[in-house]
Amino acid sequence: MLGKGPRKQIVKYRESQCTLKRLIMRKNRYKLIVFALVLVYVYHFFGVGDYVQSKNFDNDFNYPLNVDIRPIVQAILEGQKPNVKPINYYPYKFLSNYRQCSVVNKPDLVIIVKSAIDHFGHRDAIRKTYGKPHVQGYNVKTFFFLGLDNASSDVQKNITKEMTEFKDIIQMSFRDSYFNNTIKTVMSFRWIFQHCAEAQHYLFTDDDMYISVQNLRKYVSEVTTASERDGILFAGYVFKSAPQRFRSSKWRVSLEEYPWDKWPPYVTAGAYVVSNKAMKMLYVGSLFVKHFRFDDIYLGIVAKKMGIVPTHCPHFHFYKKPYEREDYSDVIASHGYSNHDELIRVWNEQNAL
Ligand SMILES: *[C@@H]1O[C@H](CO)[C@@H](O)[C@H](O)[C@H]1NC(C)=O
Ligand SMILES: *[C@@H]1O[C@H](CO)[C@@H](O)[C@H](O)[C@H]1NC(C)=O
Ligand SMILES: *[C@@H]1O[C@H](CO)[C@@H](O)[C@H](O)[C@H]1NC(C)=O
Repeated sequence: MLGKGPRKQIVKYRESQCTLKRLIMRKNRYKLIVFALVLVYVYHFFGVGDYVQSKNFDNDFNYPLNVDIRPIVQAILEGQKPNVKPINYYPYKFLSNYRQCSVVNKPDLVIIVKSAIDHFGHRDAIRKTYGKPHVQGYNVKTFFFLGLDNASSDVQKNITKEMTEFKDIIQMSFRDSYFNNTIKTVMSFRWIFQHCAEAQHYLFTDDDMYISVQNLRKYVSEVTTASERDGILFAGYVFKSAPQRFRSSKWRVSLEEYPWDKWPPYVTAGAYVVSNKAMKMLYVGSLFVKHFRFDDIYLGIVAKKMGIVPTHCPHFHFYKKPYEREDYSDVIASHGYSNHDELIRVWNEQNAL
């Protein structure tokens, strides 16, 4: 016979077993619910639905204007007035303008530096290095393109001073910010189209790049593809990739904004070179291609609609190429030079060879 105490204990034990079972069942139910929630979250977070629903780029790409814009652009470049109205004309102004591209003093190369307003040191380093006006019988003009900060700020006062001193800053009437980069790029195309349209080549670059004008000159003098023989060159580091649909990504693109599963091939914005003819085609083309906020992808879309195929050039480095004196002998452009002293040291060493 068991005493009162132990019997109670057995009952308690059985009860606790039951509760345990219930608990486990409940736990499983919780697990299931948590699992389902995680699934929904993952589906949402990674934008799985967007990936599933996106349209096929190869078969269905038809970015607005949904017409063949090539004959329209051709007509405009020949001085005619087509009856199609531009759909993408940015209503901004050039607040400074320096007429340094006269026909007499025709540059071979124009360097267009997309610069952030407060990067005084970057611009200074560029003027001391690849932005210099001459490289052995090769006429180079460098201009810095800036947006607006705040008319009464100290930064703006210093920019005004810098403009007066160097006469190489084109400031434009929109807010200088990352997502206004397409406006900055297209406005700088407009400026060279209107004021500096005689150069053979145009190099577009960010203010944190290393550039070798010598190597660029050599590269553009070697015609390789058929379109280059027609005078159409749009070259740099070419990406073939797909839109980011992750919710948390700074680069997330919704289906409403861009419904296709791939980007057109595009040249990354850090540095790229265009020939005179390509510059004109891209600028006039942009008037008939809907705005897109990433500037390099936008140019990729315009190029696709104009039938211009970007050329990948392995001497443009999207990631910083680690510096070794010998390894840099064929580098045209490399990212990662926001340290001014480093840019000046590397450039001097390469140009002293
Ligand atoms: C511009 O800068 C001034 C002085 O720093 C400030 O008082 C003003 O609020 C700023 N305006 C804008 C629109 O940010
Ligand atoms: C503007 O220039 C002055 C004098 O060179 C300098 O002391 C100041 O820090 C600069 N301000 C900004 C905001 O760059
Ligand atoms: C782009 O510039 C315009 C005009 O200055 C301004 O209204 C807009 O807020 C800017 N966009 C961004 C993302 O800064």
